[in-house]
Amino acid sequence: MTHSSILLAVEALEQSFGGVMALAGVSFQTPENLIYAIIGPNGAGKTTLFNVLCGFYQPTAGHLRFDGQELRGLPSHRIAALGIARTFQNLQLFFNMTVLENVMVGCHLRGRTSLLAAALRLPKVRHEERRLRQWAGEALELCELSSHAERSAGALPYGLMKRVEIARALAAKPRLLLLDEPAAGLNDTETMALRDLLSRIRAAGVTILLVEHHMPLVMSVSDRLLVLDYGSVLAEGAPAEIQANPRVIAAYLGGAVQYAI
Ligand SMILES: Nc1ncnc2c1ncn2[C@@H]1O[C@H](COP(=O)(O)OP(=O)(O)OP(=O)(O)O)[C@@H](O)[C@H]1O
Ligand SMILES: [Mg+2]
Repeated sequence: MTHSSILLAVEALEQSFGGVMALAGVSFQTPENLIYAIIGPNGAGKTTLFNVLCGFYQPTAGHLRFDGQELRGLPSHRIAALGIARTFQNLQLFFNMTVLENVMVGCHLRGRTSLLAAALRLPKVRHEERRLRQWAGEALELCELSSHAERSAGALPYGLMKRVEIARALAAKPRLLLLDEPAAGLNDTETMALRDLLSRIRAAGVTILLVEHHMPLVMSVSDRLLVLDYGSVLAEGAPAEIQANPRVIAAYLGGAVQYAI
């Protein structure tokens, strides 16, 4: 591997819910500046991994180091402020707000203004608002949503709604972006557009963790893959290695998967 630095290091991570071991000792390392896919059957623990990474759950055991800093024990807003943003498996938009307003919600996750300062509209608040608008504008542009900025989010086709969620996460200026099934519900054209968007995001210097079941998309866009099964790592490697791995084929991919998009 030519990638220089490790952005995320997960070590022996465990998450149990009562009797269910959703993550049973997961370790992997994500180098900076690439698309790292996490695949596996339903219930493998993919979304749980994201929830632990974002501080929604406190893991039962293990470590998560982001750029060398331990995330375990930090509340979710601190983790967001360090530069980790996510989208959700189920769409979470404000349908009666505009696209721009939805995306600006993401910027506020990184805002430095106190509520009191905001209420008094101090000069630094106006300065910050300008900065947040700029970040939102940049995120909309990267996602090719600028022409939809003033539309109501609820009036958009589904593919664009999913894209607004990505723009909102990007508006927080993350170094690491977690995407939970961004292709779910998209048609072929929208999926190809998503692939291009993921490549543009990587080119902009953002590392992506991609949870996705759409194998043609995963295999064509990812630099490396982690395969989870029943909360454990089944395999890790480049797409060609994963596609040729007999354990992965038996557990997940099956024999007749087409990888071309
Ligand atoms: N809050 C929770 N309480 C109890 N069990 C949970 C909770 N969250 C997840 N689980 C369980 O943990 C396991 C992993 O679930 P998770 O949602 O992480 O899977 P997944 O890989 O994202 O699956 P899918 O591909 O269907 O989205 C499942 O057995 C699930 O029922
Ligand atoms: Mg899931």
